Formats: sequence, structure tokens, C-alpha cells
Amino acid sequence: GRVAVLLGGRSGEREVSLNSGNAVLAALLRSGVDAHAFDTAARPLAELVAFDRVFIALHGRYGEDGTIQGALELMGVPYTGSGVMASSVGMDKWRTKLLWRSAGIATPEFTLVNESSDFAAIEQQLGLPLFVKPANEGSSIGISKVKKAGDLKAAYELAAKSDPLVIAEQFVGGGEYTVGILGDKALPIIRIVPANEFYDYEAKYLRDDTQYLCPCGLSAEKEAQIQAEALQAFKVIGGRGWGRVDFLMDEAGQHYFLEVNTSPGMTDHSLVPMAAKASGLSFYELVLNILELARV
Ligand code: DAL
Ligand code: MG
Repeated sequence: GRVAVLLGGRSGEREVSLNSGNAVLAALLRSGVDAHAFDTAARPLAELVAFDRVFIALHGRYGEDGTIQGALELMGVPYTGSGVMASSVGMDKWRTKLLWRSAGIATPEFTLVNESSDFAAIEQQLGLPLFVKPANEGSSIGISKVKKAGDLKAAYELAAKSDPLVIAEQFVGGGEYTVGILGDKALPIIRIVPANEFYDYEAKYLRDDTQYLCPCGLSAEKEAQIQAEALQAFKVIGGRGWGRVDFLMDEAGQHYFLEVNTSPGMTDHSLVPMAAKASGLSFYELVLNILELARV
């Protein structure tokens, strides 16, 4: 049947989504699928009823947050990835962390920040450095690492441009890692070694000196344990189909989950395709697998 690849859209991650969507589209076309690019910022969504399936390659607001998923549910068109609730919870780092905390899944200490917060007290409570993040954003847009006392306020103001809900999060030194999820399995873990201060937008998409280690350097036993926990972390928010769970590990070997991405990047710099390749799945096999898991 006809497949629409949703791409672009109106979020801060529009450019990333155009890259993800075009890569997915090219893979589907090469596999002989009757696939069509569909920019949700340019066409009425109602046109989607003419398709048999939808591959969501949107990121961020109106693409990864449950809104488009809700529209597709109402239209009865099967779509890839998580449903409405998991998408909206996964988009919101604060609520994801609240759920994880109550489910016993380790996540760095955190607190909400607003304009009347006692910034000095938060710096004191979480220690420096710390991270400031818009709760609903992706690709590290609006994220700062606060290193000096007194810098939290400016970091808050930057984050608040992306989302009124802003969190401050304790810094965990050591390493950044990610676990791709496909169906009910976790893919091999990737360790990310950014040349920047952290794995920010630039390191993600614009630089070629970010290192990706897969195998990630953990023992097979430790890797299997964290993969199982990542699946659990995904299930706690209700995730389905495919996704990616990011975590940090400190020098003592303790790991802390950061967030779930329910519509992860599919660009040629992206992590899930890299992990899939390490498990023997080519990009187009990955894309077909994800499409096969489409549900309504
Ligand atoms: N938010 C970006 C696209 C990612 O998680 O890969
Ligand atoms: Mg994210």
C-alpha cells in the first residue's frame, strides 16, 4: 500500500527531521515501497487518510509529542512508534523522570526552575556543574551546562525560550551512552565521546569529530543488564515499536537514565541506524522493520 513519510513539521528540530525523513524515504523507495514525503507543515493532515501506513520521521513538538499520533488514531491510519501517551510523556523530560523515579529507575537528581526560583539555592542543592534543559525539546536545543555560580539564571532564560517548563539536572561525569530499541529488543549500546563539552546540537549534527564507540567498552554482562533496564525504562512510559533511551555512567560504574526519544534521529549521523548496523541490520532493513511494527 501507499506509505506517507512524515517529515519537517513545525518544531525546533525541523531541519533534523528533514534529514531523517529523506533518509527513510530513500530507503523505502529503494526497497520498492510506494512511499511519499509528507511535510506536516505544508499539507493538511486530513490528506493522510489516503495512505495505508505512516512512517513518523518527525522530531519534537507536533511530531513526537502525541499530537500527530492522536490525529492518526482518529483517522485510523497505522503509524510507526509509540502511541499518544508514551509520546507525550517521552517528550517531557520532567514527567519522564518523575515516572522513572517512582518506578525505581535511576535518573540524575533534578528540580524544576522558574523565574522566581532561588537560583543560588538550586546551584547549591544540585552542585556545579549542572545541566539546564527545556523539558519539551530535542537535539539538545536550549540546553546549557552551568559551570559557574551565578550562571543558572541565564541558562534558565535560554531554556525558557524553547519551553516554559525548565529543569535543572545534576551533572554525572563519566560517559554518555545510548540504547536503541527495536520491537521488544535492545540494540547494542553506543558510547558517545563528543569533542565538545557535551553531546550538543553541534556535536550531534555539524561536527565530524564526535566519536561513536560500538562496542561501547562495557563488559557483556553489564551491557546486557543495562539493555534490560533500558527496555524497562521504555516500558514504564508505555513506549512501543522503536525508540532510544539515553543514559550516563559515572566513574564508579553507576548508570543514570536521562530521557526517552520516541522518534529518534534517522540521519546519517544518527545513533539507532548505527546500533542497528552493529547488530547486522542495514539501514533499509531497519526502516522496513520499524514500518512493519506500525499500529493504530
Ligand atoms: N531528538 C533527536 C532527533 C534524537 O533523539 O535523535
Ligand atoms: Mg531527546
